[in-house]
Amino acid sequence: MLELSINGEVHRADVTADVPLLWVLRDVLGMTGTKFGCGIAQCGACTVHLDGRPVRSCQLPVGLIGDRKITTVEGIGATRAGAAVQKAWLDLDVIQCGYCQSGQIMSAAALIASTPAPSDADIDAAMAGNICRCGTYVRIREGIKKAAAEHHA
Ligand code: FES
Ligand code: FES
Repeated sequence: MLELSINGEVHRADVTADVPLLWVLRDVLGMTGTKFGCGIAQCGACTVHLDGRPVRSCQLPVGLIGDRKITTVEGIGATRAGAAVQKAWLDLDVIQCGYCQSGQIMSAAALIASTPAPSDADIDAAMAGNICRCGTYVRIREGIKKAAAEHHA
């Protein structure tokens, strides 16, 4: 039985250590906000935070997590950066179909938490691994700048 700290609570999962975190979140714990896209760390749909840093949960065996703290899209709104991103996303109508957006929000929240005024290059570097098939990249960029301004005001 593995114990995982997720969004400030301890969760127990009866899985083997090699199961990717994404499957534990979605199939064992019923936390379906984190999405499956490619399964090979190429799309970013499955992004969560590990001690505040974005990681691809589809390629992260749960046995490697230890006591590091996991934050998912269900919990990111409880952080100042996450709340700022979610507000900016709604203000600017960033979302189209929505499938990629939990991953986009997680990467954006990590970026603005660590970077007061992200440049276009900062945004390109931080968001390069998050694919959006609807092409919402322009609004994502605006949303990150708006959220960063509000977060660091
Ligand atoms: S599902 Fe993990 S990066 Fe695509
Ligand atoms: S909003 Fe549809 S894939 Fe990004």
